[in-house]
Amino acid sequence: MSRLFKNDVLEGQVALITGGGTGIGAAIARELASQGARIVIASRKADRIAKAAAGLSAELGQEVLGLPCDIRDRDAVSALVEGTLAQHGRLDILVNNGGGQFLSPAEMIRPKGWDAVVETNLTGTWNLTRAAADAWMLKHGGRVINITMLTDRGFPGMAHSVAARAGVEALSRTLAVEWAAYGLRVNCVQPGLILSSGMNNYPDGGELARQTQSEIPLKRLGSCEEVAWMVAFLAGPAGAYITGQVLTLDGGRTLWGNTWPIPDPPTLPEVLIPSEPWEQDGD
Ligand SMILES: NC(=O)c1ccc[n+]([C@@H]2O[C@H](COP(=O)([O-])OP(=O)(O)OC[C@H]3O[C@@H](n4cnc5c(N)ncnc54)[C@H](OP(=O)(O)O)[C@@H]3O)[C@@H](O)[C@H]2O)c1
Repeated sequence: MSRLFKNDVLEGQVALITGGGTGIGAAIARELASQGARIVIASRKADRIAKAAAGLSAELGQEVLGLPCDIRDRDAVSALVEGTLAQHGRLDILVNNGGGQFLSPAEMIRPKGWDAVVETNLTGTWNLTRAAADAWMLKHGGRVINITMLTDRGFPGMAHSVAARAGVEALSRTLAVEWAAYGLRVNCVQPGLILSSGMNNYPDGGELARQTQSEIPLKRLGSCEEVAWMVAFLAGPAGAYITGQVLTLDGGRTLWGNTWPIPDPPTLPEVLIPSEPWEQDGD
């Protein structure tokens, strides 16, 4: 049962969530299901997605379909959309949540690493959005919600991913205009630091999160459930007049904080406050 929304607002609708077997994606699956949507989750690891689908099915009292899919592989993406339509006969909500990156200073990112992150987070999002649009949404309408990251300032250590996610946001604004006439809404949710299983992907991820906590004005990390609520808001009738937007959910972090120390040069330039010549004689 949703703690925030009426429980039947998505009744009869079908939601496909990539990365729906872990962390933020699983919370989104729970929240949309609790509002009545039928759920399909997908990610690369077949065993992980099958286990998560079985777990969510037991928890939610509905049969959650779990399909393996690497969003970088266009044939697999088409098969995922076909599998969803074969099972449920419609596809109303697509949540492009599946993705990831590794932490690295920009000068250490190798071509292979760059390509993998951009292919996953930008091209993968496009692959699935396009497949869902072609197979269903351009005819019947729908909602696409893309999970991105904080792109408004620099994101040191994540040059590849922040570039890809900013690309997703630009894509979303563009599709929101081009596809509005088809009854399609496209939005992004931009989470700050969220306490999710994804933290384990980083060496000392827990420690990094604990350190960063003090740099967030609300002095805590976000929860997966809070991201899911924002997604549900955009997916349901409350979001009916919102398209092409990027909604930030970061406890105020974008407004403040400095997680990347910049070393001083050997000598700092002298700070001299300028004055006009006629003001320099001590008058
Ligand atoms: N946690 C945060 O603080 C935070 C902040 C901003 C943005 N985000 C973003 O939010 C999303 C969810 O993150 P999370 O924290 O819940 O981490 P997570 O548990 O690591 O979730 C990532 C999910 O994406 C799936 N995935 C990765 N590559 C994929 C691919 N090529 N094709 C299909 N599925 C793929 C993974 O499953 P498989 O390994 O089985 O493929 C996994 O289920 C990610 O895009 C993440 O970058 C997270």
